[in-house]
This record gives sequence, C-alpha cells and structure tokens, in this order.
Amino acid sequence: MEQTFVMIKPDGVQRGLVGQVLLRLEKKGLKINGLKLIKVTEEMAGSHYQEHQGRGFYAGLISYITSAPVVVMVVEGKNAVQEVRKINGATNPLDALPGTIRGDFAQDIGRNVVHGSDSVESAQREIDIYFEPREIQDYNFLPEQWLYE
Ligand SMILES: Nc1ncnc2c1ncn2[C@@H]1O[C@H](COP(=O)(O)OP(=O)(O)O)[C@@H](O)[C@H]1O
Ligand SMILES: [Mg+2]
Repeated sequence: MEQTFVMIKPDGVQRGLVGQVLLRLEKKGLKINGLKLIKVTEEMAGSHYQEHQGRGFYAGLISYITSAPVVVMVVEGKNAVQEVRKINGATNPLDALPGTIRGDFAQDIGRNVVHGSDSVESAQREIDIYFEPREIQDYNFLPEQWLYE
C-alpha cells in the first residue's frame, strides 16, 4: 500500500472547501492515516518547496502557503500518489478537467486549492516535514476487502 501527502492550501480552507476535498478522497476509498489543521512556518514551506527555489513564483508561493491555516493529511491506498494527483487535477486550473478539485473549484495557478505529492519519495519527504510518527495512525480500514482484490 502506498502513502501520499495531501494539503488543503490556505485558499481551500478559507473558502470552506475542506469537506469537499475530504469527500472526494473518501469516496475514492482512500484511507486517511493522519489529518490536522496547522499554520505552515517559513521553514516548513522552504523545505517543502525547495525544488522551486529560484523560480519567479517562489516568493509568492511561500507567502501564500504560510498566510493562513492549511489542512495536512497522510493518505493511503493502492497507487495513492497517482490517484490523488488525478483527483486534484492539473497544476494550472485552466488545464484541469471538470470533475477534478482544481477543475471544479479553482481558476488561478497561484490559488489551486490542493497539493498532492508527485512521487512516493516526495511523499515520504513531505510527510516527514509535516508529521511526527505518533500523529500517523495505522488501523483496520473496513472497506479494504471491498476495494482491493
Ligand atoms: N507559474 C506559476 N505561478 C504561480 N504559482 C505557481 C506556478 N507554478 C507553480 N505554482 C505553485 O507552486 C505549486 C507547486 O508547483 P508544482 O510542483 O509544479 O505543481 P503541483 O502542485 O501540481 O505539484 C503549484 O501547486 C502552485 O501553487
Ligand atoms: Mg509539485
């Protein structure tokens, strides 16, 4: 089973879209192993988005992500990384298909509501930035026998 890291960004929380995002993850049968509302520090943001340092949008991205509370999650499932990226939709909401979170709820690339890790390695790195091991629960998820062969 694969784990990924999901964030409902400040715009998602401020716009009251937390439930909408959770609904889509749960509907798909993804399991939530960790979930909390936090304020991202400059240090966390710098570590999370280190690959984008030097890009034109970097400063704006850091100030956006640290501007107000976010919801962070550890999400588990078969191919969780890819499944969440699909549910989130393309980075630029203009390219995101209807039915995806960004396609349905966002218009601007700089206010695209959600984050999902792009690989298993990024997921582990991002989970380590935002979660203590004791905040991640392993438990028996009843639908599993009806989700996976
Ligand atoms: N050209 C851009 N202008 C403004 N913000 C951007 C731009 N490109 C990326 N971002 C922001 O940086 C985040 C990280 O970018 P990236 O890793 O490429 O996308 P994704 O979040 O889909 O993995 C995006 O989700 C978006 O919030
Ligand atoms: Mg990315």
